[in-house]
Amino acid sequence: MAGFPHEHLIDFSDYSADDIMLLLETAYKFKEVNERRIKKVPTLKGFTVVNMFNEPSTRTRSSFEIAEKRLSADSLNFGGSSTSTVKGESLVDTVETLCAYKIDLIVVRDKHAGVPRKIADVSGVHVIDAGDGKHQHPTQALLDLYSIWQEKVVAGGMAFDKLKVGIVGDIGHSRVCGSLIPALKIMGCDVTVIAPPTLMPARPDVLGADRATSDLDAALPELDVVYMLRIQRERLEGAPFPSLREYNQLFGLTQERDALMRPDACVCHPGPINRGVELDSFMADHPKRSIILDQVYAGVLVRMAALYLLLGGASDGLDA
Ligand code: CP
Repeated sequence: MAGFPHEHLIDFSDYSADDIMLLLETAYKFKEVNERRIKKVPTLKGFTVVNMFNEPSTRTRSSFEIAEKRLSADSLNFGGSSTSTVKGESLVDTVETLCAYKIDLIVVRDKHAGVPRKIADVSGVHVIDAGDGKHQHPTQALLDLYSIWQEKVVAGGMAFDKLKVGIVGDIGHSRVCGSLIPALKIMGCDVTVIAPPTLMPARPDVLGADRATSDLDAALPELDVVYMLRIQRERLEGAPFPSLREYNQLFGLTQERDALMRPDACVCHPGPINRGVELDSFMADHPKRSIILDQVYAGVLVRMAALYLLLGGASDGLDA
């Protein structure tokens, strides 16, 4: 088969449903590696990956590092206040310095939207966006899609284009939405965004969702997947709702709302969770509904797949 037709994973604007399925199916093949006693293959031996994290991360950073180690890539962890950026070095000079080491791929998280694209434009190496400002988070969208695929399509027997997905919460500040809504739409899902008016963008249609509402209780009975977003306290300006308690009452996925949900509806969250705000522990830890820890595990699988395919691997040549 031909190689993967993309240099970078920054957004899904030029990705097709076939490209996304290839990423998901390659991730599934790497699941077998992750379930061995020795969880390591030589697949990316000799490749060098820089993880440039200029903003805090637990899940994304640790799962990229684990993915790189399990593929035998050499990785350099770099970023934040320990770099010469604090002495005034520009982003472009920093990237050109790293590229002088003959690296192959940069994984970047930054608080400024557009940094991954800028690095792709100036560097000549592959770039994966690990979250940029309020803009994009494509590997989060891939791990979400992988988890939904396994739960609702593979195990549940549904087709992607029959799935109704509701994304609830801080739509306006969410880079998860920026990638997840386009990815769900490419796969044919029906998408509803649900938020208080103060956390809904002025033009929700621009996000690509099929509809927008502020009535969670009316929307819940229709949904196969209930995707709860984190309240991004670090990005909130002013006071978009009177209190976290009121937000939880109106927009939180609480035990009381369990009765409104389809019996087979599942619950997703990108993490980190604000327990008692966007969802309570009953829902976060629900043995049948919550697939939040499946999402965490899928983070390693889809990041292995993205690294492998961008660095020239072919799914049918996978020697895992
Ligand atoms: N979901 C997510 O991006 O989590 P981290 O910020 O911990 O990486």
